[in-house]
Amino acid sequence: MRYTIRPLDASTWAAFAELAARNNGVYGGCWCMAYHLEVSRTDAAQNRAGKERRVRGGRAHAALVFDDYGTAQGWCQYGSPEELPGIKHRREYEKDAPPHPDWRITCFFVDKRHRGQGIARAALEGALDQIAHLGGGLVEAISEVTTCREAQGRFLFSATVELFEQNGFTRVRKVGKHAWIVSRVIESAPSIGQPVSSPPVPEQRPDLLDAAKRAERPFPRASAGPAGSAPAMHSGGGGRAPPPPIHGAL
Ligand SMILES: CC(C)(COP(=O)(O)OP(=O)(O)OC[C@H]1O[C@@H](n2cnc3c(N)ncnc32)[C@H](O)[C@@H]1OP(=O)(O)O)[C@@H](O)C(=O)NCCC(=O)NCCS
Repeated sequence: MRYTIRPLDASTWAAFAELAARNNGVYGGCWCMAYHLEVSRTDAAQNRAGKERRVRGGRAHAALVFDDYGTAQGWCQYGSPEELPGIKHRREYEKDAPPHPDWRITCFFVDKRHRGQGIARAALEGALDQIAHLGGGLVEAISEVTTCREAQGRFLFSATVELFEQNGFTRVRKVGKHAWIVSRVIESAPSIGQPVSSPPVPEQRPDLLDAAKRAERPFPRASAGPAGSAPAMHSGGGGRAPPPPIHGAL
């Protein structure tokens, strides 16, 4: 299967929304808002609306993977640290914080029926390509080592250290039982016929600091279980019961 990678923006919002809706809003309704530190744990519609506002306002980035039929099947979320202030294993991370990155890669998602077909790999390659066309710089992720252990894909929000290493990343420091900070410098790529956007302008949002503190509390457990560059081609209430809690990657 050949995949086409496009940036998540106003023109691809509908495809992203269809993929997320097809997967119950992703992780019980997160809509990939957790790393923006704006996630509601109870209101998936609010998360969807917040995501759409961000996408249409150019304040959410992801490489979106389309199949041969033009259907979006997965994504790799990335953005500036200001756009994505959420940090997994923050306490351990801040004990000896690495150099401030230009970009973070935070969250992957692939449609449940299309896993194990190279979509996350294509999404990562696409994200790195988009970052290059946005000016490049130091890219950081916090991912998990899976060698010599059984890792359930549904919990691998930030893919695997091995996948990042295959894409030129190196391990910086261990911050969890299986979690490592990994990083790589991406060279700037020339614009291809389109104006190159600057990296997102840092947002001065003191309200997010409070949100950050709230977001670092563990998510409630659900009883039903856990919940512009040109396109690139790649191979490979009321009287009702309350809604189930929304999970998130953080
Ligand atoms: C983790 C996830 C993104 C992987 O997507 P995928 O398309 O199946 O991954 P790929 O087929 O591209 O695999 C690429 C590499 O990732 C690794 N990998 C993927 N799933 C793995 C698993 N369960 N265990 C170990 N390694 C795994 C492998 O190293 C693989 O390399 P290989 O081809 O050499 O074996 C997918 O399982 C997923 O979406 N999980 C849910 C995450 C989620 O809920 N995110 C939203 C949170 S709000």
